[in-house]
Amino acid sequence: MKVASIATIARGVVAVVATVTLAAACSSGSPKTGGSGAASGQLTGRGPITLAQGKDTSGNVQNQINTWNKAHPKETVRLVELPESADQQRQQMVQNAQTKSDAYTVLNLDVVWTAEFAANRWVTQLPKDQFDLAKFLPSAVQTGTYRDNMYAAPWKTDAGLLYYRKDLLQKAGISAPPKTWAELQSDCGKVKGVDCYAGQFDKYEGLTCNFSEAVDSAGGQVVDDQGKPNVNTPQAKQGLNFLVQGFKSGMIPKEAITYEEEDARRAFEKGNLLFLRQWPYQWALSSKAPKTKGKFDVAPLPGLNGPGAPTLGGHNLAISSFAKNKATALDFIKYLTSEDTERLNLVASSEAPTLASLYDEPALQQKFPYLPTLKASLLNAKPRPKAVRYNDVTTAIQEAVYSALTGKTTTDQALADLQSKLGPLTAQ
Ligand code: GLC
Repeated sequence: MKVASIATIARGVVAVVATVTLAAACSSGSPKTGGSGAASGQLTGRGPITLAQGKDTSGNVQNQINTWNKAHPKETVRLVELPESADQQRQQMVQNAQTKSDAYTVLNLDVVWTAEFAANRWVTQLPKDQFDLAKFLPSAVQTGTYRDNMYAAPWKTDAGLLYYRKDLLQKAGISAPPKTWAELQSDCGKVKGVDCYAGQFDKYEGLTCNFSEAVDSAGGQVVDDQGKPNVNTPQAKQGLNFLVQGFKSGMIPKEAITYEEEDARRAFEKGNLLFLRQWPYQWALSSKAPKTKGKFDVAPLPGLNGPGAPTLGGHNLAISSFAKNKATALDFIKYLTSEDTERLNLVASSEAPTLASLYDEPALQQKFPYLPTLKASLLNAKPRPKAVRYNDVTTAIQEAVYSALTGKTTTDQALADLQSKLGPLTAQ
């Protein structure tokens, strides 16, 4: 079968996107216009809006906005870039909501914030029937749902992957990436001149993701399916010890204790690391970086006794309750989550789409040979706890794990403290 090139698809798609979005804006199915729509649950009002989100690392969010703005000169979107760190983004969005400011219209919500924003009525319920939710990955749809209602539309999903330098492994006579932590360590012993492994270990949301992955990859769970904390277990201890011992033995370089996503990416792209735990977005960027271009690949995360289990991440689109022009916001969200826009975004950024069918498109698989690995990792990904007080949950995790990684407490003490702190926070 002849496979259409990505460039051809992309060109065709730009035209389709413009038509679709114009049609959406004019269709009689759109919510009633008139009124500003501010401070109400009604999705009314048309005019300029903003999209608030973390740093546009790929640069492609601005491209998508430009395409929209060309087709909607009276309903333009302005990108408000918040800091790189997930915790600081949340802080600014919460402050904005608490002061009932209309500065942010569409919020790019991390998957773990949905419950808090929905329960506090900081975001407006979205009309489920206006989205073809059956086409999206069910795990991503779940992350935008609170008490069976949709508050955020699935936009970008995420799962941790093992980035590795295939050139260095090959030179050392290693033909496949490691499936277990023991194999990873043994591979590192055979490759000289680079650090072994890093992830994101600064005291912020990324640490919660890396810790949860370590526990899940040892067969445990930070919070069990009934919502009970579960870190007083041998599996949680083995998971945390992988990281604690990693720092002690030098398997993880000391400076990784300050790493967030972009620091970790830079270390990998300088050629300093053999293995890195990272999200899919890095694929496109490292494919252009001179020292890593053509030299790396990705694999599922390794675990204690076999392949590990990544943390489910991602970002969804919600509408601030205090914003004006919510009808425009809804159409803009439909545009960003449409098949054509998601396809173009995958091509430009390698960020993981939420639409399931894109993972199986031959032309996309040809350009991104890692798509099947990504899909398998996403299907295996474990969500973080769904809690209205999620910020307290993650703060407790970050404090306990960070003090173990920096040697201030033992693994046993850190986990005992965490178990007792999590109890009241996760009780329903
Ligand atoms: C990524 C994930 C997000 C996670 C964050 C942690 O952006 O998509 O879910 O919370 O990283 O830094």
